This record gives sequence, structure tokens and C-alpha cells, in this order.
Amino acid sequence: MDKLRIVGGKRLQGAVSIAGAKNSALPQIAASLLSPFPLELTNLPVVTDVQAMLNVVGAQGAVVSRSAQGTTIEARALLTVDTTYETVRKMRATVLVLAPLLARNGQARVSMPGGCAIGARPVDLHVKALQALGAHVEIDRGVIAASLKSGLRGARIVLGAPSVGATATALMAATYAKGETEILNAAREPELADLAACLTAMGAEIEGAGTHRILINGETSWRAASHHSIPDRIEAGTYAVAAAITGGQLELTNARLEHLASAVQILEMMGVNVWPSDRGIVISRDGALRPVDLTTEPYPGFPTDLQAQIMALATCANGASLIREAVFESRFMHVPELCRLGADITLKGTSALVRGGGKLYGTEVMATDLRASVSLILAALVAEGETIVNRVYHLDRGYEQLDRKLRQCGADIERLKG
Ligand code: UD1
Repeated sequence: MDKLRIVGGKRLQGAVSIAGAKNSALPQIAASLLSPFPLELTNLPVVTDVQAMLNVVGAQGAVVSRSAQGTTIEARALLTVDTTYETVRKMRATVLVLAPLLARNGQARVSMPGGCAIGARPVDLHVKALQALGAHVEIDRGVIAASLKSGLRGARIVLGAPSVGATATALMAATYAKGETEILNAAREPELADLAACLTAMGAEIEGAGTHRILINGETSWRAASHHSIPDRIEAGTYAVAAAITGGQLELTNARLEHLASAVQILEMMGVNVWPSDRGIVISRDGALRPVDLTTEPYPGFPTDLQAQIMALATCANGASLIREAVFESRFMHVPELCRLGADITLKGTSALVRGGGKLYGTEVMATDLRASVSLILAALVAEGETIVNRVYHLDRGYEQLDRKLRQCGADIERLKG
């Protein structure tokens, strides 16, 4: 297993190119199963989660081919209605193939996502959305089994919470439904608007994606399509923290300020400068860092996927920060590891009290999940001495060439092949 070795204390400077959004790529790859015509996706990030999702659709019978321009997926016929526990266990997003398989085949069986590394991650909202559209769904011995007696029927779906994944499931299934579907309390994440843009290019008729209310006119006439994904706002936010924590200056090329409004607001409150450039966003810090009080929320609130990174930054602020996680109930696996680097953090329920300003010291730490592990890298960039981060495969799931990008702007970081 690869490790990363980081020697802290280098001020980052230069430009980082932000890749396509992983969380756009995954539902779009799943959506390719809806249509019998080819879908070309450009701007897919080169990360292992994307490869895993391509393998999943490949296993369902889709033909995946790559060219210099992008990746084309053609699901002329689907071979199977099953996805195995082995594939779903590794990546919760695999549940996104449930709706396309059901819509296309009239039945689908997907293993329940296993593990609960960042809290219980139920699928009840996905199930209710499909039931509202007329599907019969039952969970039997760890498998979600969905079937249709007649086809899907357009309906009003009121989501109990604005789940990103359940909104994607509802949106994809509704493209096959007879008549109109209305999704209320839909998630508003930019990646959902991007999924709708991709589906629209494929022939779907969708209005209101990116808002609380989405309307879909079903029975899509599918056609060949090409779609370019939006940039990864979480990768951009992560490099923004890298610039801020090292007191450096980075230009995040391709990043979109409008997708990062709440994160930028928090960074500015902490004393970080942010401004737009012709190519993206520039982040810099020269003064002291101020503490912060924040709660994670669904979009457009502060993203849970940046909570661990901002906590690393808060360990360097002068004073105490309060960080509350309100999206996932136990997403604090980075806390004990940050404490091993010298951070002073107390956890109480869903809140973390971060007493900033103490010194961080390099040591050996363990990556536990994607965003938790990147917070350790960020802390290591300012820790005194050498940090070894084990289990780097967690980072490779969602960050394209993290070590190379950081090295290019001055970090002392190397990958130790294991
Ligand atoms: C997506 C993102 C993930 C991000 C999360 C929240 C992808 C591939 N992943 O995950 O990076 O951290 O949004 O921004 O896009 N819930 C239920 N029942 C359900 C579904 C969800 O109760 O059926 C709950 C979850 O337990 C959680 C909350 O809703 O507390 C938000 O989850 P959701 O928005 O669905 O996250 P994901 O789509 O899994």
C-alpha cells in the first residue's frame, strides 16, 4: 500500500488545475445505462472511484471506450440486473445504477451499500422515490430488489430530506416514467444540475434542476450525446485550504467561484483572501488565521465534504473554533489522527471544539476515508518535521494526482510505493 511522506513548512505558490467533479462523474456514468445510444463524457477526473464506476457499468453490459477527447459509454443492451456486494461495498455511489437498471430492464437488484464509515447511510429515500413512481421495492437479505409490474408512472415525489443520491435516483427514473414527475425538496447541489444537463443532452426534458423543485417530462426519446462535467468544487476547496494553511497563494484554474460561495465566506471570515481571476480563483493568506463557527449543510450551505479540511485549517487559527457536522452523524474520523499531529480537538456529539494556535508536529498517521485523509495531508503541510500518511488509496479515490499537484506548487511531498 502506497504511503505519502510530507515535510511541513513550505509556503505553496503557483497554479493548480482543478479536475472534473468526481460527484458529477459518478451519477453521469450511471445515467449512461439509461440510453441505448453512446454517451461521451469529457472532463472525467482520473481517480479510482471513476474507474470503479466504469467497471460497474461495464459489468452491466455497457461498452466503455476511451479516446483523447473523453470516455464513451454505450449501453446498447444490458446483460444483467444484478450488482454484487463486492462492487457496492467499496463505493456507496454504486447504488445510483439501481434506477437506470430498473427503468431499462423492469427489474434490478443492487446490494445494500455496506460499511458505515461516515455514519449510517440509508437508502430509504431512494426506495421511496422509486415506489412513488410505481416500482415494487423490497430489501431482502442485504439486497435492494426493485421491479415493475407495468412501467414507471410520473408522480409527485416529496423527498423527506434533500438527499443528493435520492434526487439523482428520482431524476433518472423519471426520464422513463409515463407523464410528468415533480420532485419536491430536491437537493440543489451543482452536480445535480450537471446530471440534469447531461440527461438533457441525452434527450431528457427537465426543468428546475439546481432548485428545490424539479420537473421531468418522461418517456424520453434518447439520442447520442456528449457532456463536459463541471469542475470539482471539493477539490478546489481543498487546494484553497492548502494555500490558506501554508500562508501561500494559489490560482485554482477552472474552479468556479459560484459553486464555492459558502466555503469562500468561511475562508474570508478566517482571514483568507479570495478573488476571481480570468482562469478561475486565486486564494492567498498573509495575516493571522481567525477561528470560525460553522455547521455543515446541504448546498448552498457549507459542504460536509470540506468539513475535515476546514478543521485542519482551524487548528492553525488563533482561538477556538466550533465545527458542527449536520449532514452525516459521525464524520469525525480525522479528529483522532489530527490530534496525533498535535491538534487540540474535543468532540461532543456532532460538534468539534478546535482549540487552535498550538504547534503541529509530523508523525505517522492513517488515512481513513477520502476527505478525512486529505485533512491530514493539509495539517502535515504545516506540521514541523516529517509526516507519513498510510493508506493513500483513500485519497486516490477522489483526488487526481494529489501529490504531483502539491509538489508542483512547492510542497515537500513524495509517494512511497508500497
Ligand atoms: C453525496 C456525495 C457525498 C456528499 C453527500 C452530502 C456523491 C457521489 N456523493 O453523497 O460526497 O458527502 O452527497 O453532500 O455525490 N439519507 C437518508 N436516506 C437516503 C439517502 C440519504 O437518510 O435514502 C441521509 C444520509 O444518511 C445523510 C444525508 O441524507 O445523512 C445526506 O446524504 P446524501 O445527500 O444522500 O449523500 P450521498 O448522495 O450519499
